Amino acid sequence: MDRYAVFGNPIAHSKSPFIHARFAEQTGQALSYDARLAPLDGFAETVAAFRSEGGRGANVTVPFKLDAFALADRRSARAEAAGAANTLLFDEHGIFADNTDGVGLVRDLAQLGCVLEGARVLLLGAGGAARGALLPLLAEAPSSLTIANRTTEKALALAQQFQPEGRACALAGCGFDALAAGTFDVVINATSSSLSDDVPPLPQGIYAPGALAYDMMYGRDETSFLAAARALGAARVSDGLGMLVEQAAESFFLWRGVRPDTQPVRAALREAIARS
Ligand code: ATR
Repeated sequence: MDRYAVFGNPIAHSKSPFIHARFAEQTGQALSYDARLAPLDGFAETVAAFRSEGGRGANVTVPFKLDAFALADRRSARAEAAGAANTLLFDEHGIFADNTDGVGLVRDLAQLGCVLEGARVLLLGAGGAARGALLPLLAEAPSSLTIANRTTEKALALAQQFQPEGRACALAGCGFDALAAGTFDVVINATSSSLSDDVPPLPQGIYAPGALAYDMMYGRDETSFLAAARALGAARVSDGLGMLVEQAAESFFLWRGVRPDTQPVRAALREAIARS
């Protein structure tokens, strides 16, 4: 049986084994997938041990996405753009690194009926999560993409770096204080603020009529960002559970060449989290 795993620290909370077990069952693929704790200073050794046991591929989560990128012999364009990897493929050529987070976000937005083409998009945050989303978001041709971050310089640097990919899109970086005059169709929270029940300080009027507020975080209860978005008038809100399932589906496709149906798995995961 082909073996796969997700590496992280901590890792006990990971939903990836749940998701991939359902994908495997649904597509009739014979594989195992488990969660493995890697020591903070021992990611490369843990991956090497897994490969020597016959591991065929892996997902990588916090805090090892940069290490996974560095470890690879070859990388996809979207991993290069993100500077980080969440998916590894082991074969006779060595280690191939990919990043499926951004495409997972874009697929989830599509599932939610959100049209990015021509939309005014606001991306909050300028860390790894925001960086990973940029190339796939720009590929959807929004009319504008504004990156806003607590530390303004990081948003400016990210906007400048991705300018060549922007084409017809107005790409800009700023601090939260510069958002007062803006109105957006899609607002994506790629900061980690919801982990501490905090919220980026967004002004009134930020949400256009019909706008979607999207938080990459998810949990049993509504995140602080989504609660605040409702109060600010966002017509629709969504957490990042769908993104988690969609990025997993893209990893599964890379490894197995088969695209699972994400819909039933999204529903099953939502139910499992509600019960937890
Ligand atoms: P990740 O991999 O989750 O993106 P990261 O690279 O450490 O993690 O980036 C965290 C992001 O969340 C950053 O954009 C950070 O803002 P700074 O660059 O100013 O540090 C943002 N962030 C974290 N906590 C926040 C909070 N309470 N309010 C607003 N932004 C926050």
